[in-house]
Amino acid sequence: MTDRARFTGSSVIVTGAASGIGRETAIRFAAEGAKVTVADIDEAGARATVDAIEAAGHTARVSVTDVSSTEAVRSMVDGAVATYGRLDVLHNNAYWAPINRTVTDTSDEEWERTIAITLKSVFLGCKFGIEAMLGNGGGTIVNTASTAGLVASPSFAAYMAAKGGVIALTRSVAFDYGKQGIRCNAVAPGLTRTAATDPVFADQDRLDFLTAKLLLGRAGEPVDIAMAVLFLASAESGFMTGQTMVVDGGRLIA
Ligand SMILES: NC(=O)c1ccc[n+]([C@@H]2O[C@H](COP(=O)([O-])OP(=O)(O)OC[C@H]3O[C@@H](n4cnc5c(N)ncnc54)[C@H](O)[C@@H]3O)[C@@H](O)[C@H]2O)c1
Repeated sequence: MTDRARFTGSSVIVTGAASGIGRETAIRFAAEGAKVTVADIDEAGARATVDAIEAAGHTARVSVTDVSSTEAVRSMVDGAVATYGRLDVLHNNAYWAPINRTVTDTSDEEWERTIAITLKSVFLGCKFGIEAMLGNGGGTIVNTASTAGLVASPSFAAYMAAKGGVIALTRSVAFDYGKQGIRCNAVAPGLTRTAATDPVFADQDRLDFLTAKLLLGRAGEPVDIAMAVLFLASAESGFMTGQTMVVDGGRLIA
């Protein structure tokens, strides 16, 4: 899969790692030598990710975690430190949001759930993750934002607000903790083939319409995003912090 080993001996947490981008990122971190905590509310999916990592001869463990819960995120970080002795990298990636909702269509419950799972989760991950990283002299955080946090997207109100918040929070963490050895960046995927986008990939006309706007002529695959996450988490991006890296096949500049 790779002959690189940028994370040998590192302890890495990936949230939302039962599926899609998070699963691929967890597999790639493990393939490059990391000991990975696969965190997700979906226990069976997280187990399947760990099974895939172990089948390849690498190291991972499941952490059943609801990322919107303070106690659950604290215990996710404590579990990684207890098992692997430290925390070097945190990839805050889990999300939930309703689709096809303008502001007036969005219920209070949908708004609050989106903010809790997609934005508060990043706050909680950073809060406990930073405390653990400071114990070993620093670390790196990579948050999954979205192009929808940078430009408008139709009928996606709560998600856009949450992802805009993720981008701002990324800058806040970068500002406050850089001198203590913590870098914090975000990746902003465009259309990527995962469970979340199944309805788009199942509708050829819609897919053709959307991919026609992409300068590279294709939608993203989870590995396209995973490799950007690994770069931002690695020493190769050692002079970058507070940035949001757009990985979208050229959609935003077109
Ligand atoms: N797929 C795309 O086109 C795309 C585009 C831009 C941004 N993103 C972002 O990429 C990230 C990953 O999305 P994906 O496309 O891989 O989706 P996905 O549906 O494949 O994975 C999302 C994961 O989050 C988990 N999750 C949901 N609620 C949770 C909770 N409360 N606690 C813990 N885990 C929870 C799910 O169980 C699932 O495993 C998200 O942050 C998403 O906003 C995706």
